[in-house]
Amino acid sequence: INNDKLPPIEHEEEIQEEEASNEPEPAEEEPDEPEEPIEQEEPAPNQEAEGVEKGILIENPDSLDVIVNKKRNLPENYVPEDLTALTDIPTVLSNPEVNQLRKAAYEALKELFDAAKEEGYELHARSGYRSYYTQASLYTSYVENYGKAAADKYSAKPGQSEHQTGLSMDITCEAINYKLDTTFGETEEGKWVAENAHRYGFIIRYPKGKEDITGYAYEPWHIRYLGVELAEKIYESGLTLEEYFQQ
Ligand code: DAL
Ligand code: ZN
Repeated sequence: INNDKLPPIEHEEEIQEEEASNEPEPAEEEPDEPEEPIEQEEPAPNQEAEGVEKGILIENPDSLDVIVNKKRNLPENYVPEDLTALTDIPTVLSNPEVNQLRKAAYEALKELFDAAKEEGYELHARSGYRSYYTQASLYTSYVENYGKAAADKYSAKPGQSEHQTGLSMDITCEAINYKLDTTFGETEEGKWVAENAHRYGFIIRYPKGKEDITGYAYEPWHIRYLGVELAEKIYESGLTLEEYFQQ
């Protein structure tokens, strides 16, 4: 079964929104049904069925250049200390948790959004910080909807998501109805982001063609704050974060 066309879903937001707000939702994230049922993979014999396949436990979760991936996991209790509410930029969802970033990342995101706006592109922030527990319910939703193999291409297990660092943001725009899917990369907004995000300290964290290295499908909407110096170096190198640091 080819799962490449499955849309990404962000269930945590739906769950929280139903509880938090009666406002009309600008973007619903009800996943499209796969055309055929997806067979669930059996867990490997010596692997926990539900738990995280434990990698290395990250010891520097506060570092701006921290690498979080399927091999490098954040502690369950890690919450950044300087999470800041996104008060000055357009957001999509009413869940206050995901409308946060670490302070430096938010300051840089505002500059990125302002620069985009000057060029005529209005960007919207959809999902920023997610706690370990929010990520756990999101990952479980993917598994329930699509099976484990597909879930693992689109969603990080708890402790393995960059969103828990407060340094990553999923961005979108009106042209794709404020959703998150790969067509963002083909919009004028998405192209502008790919060409300019590094100037404000962000990289496209999961590029096309690098799925085997990053462990995830292409996500043109997921940007990661690293600071301008490092983001520019990585952009110029054409490498992923993993390749750049050879992890
Ligand atoms: N979609 C990215 C990989 C995450 O869940 O963090
Ligand atoms: Zn993301």
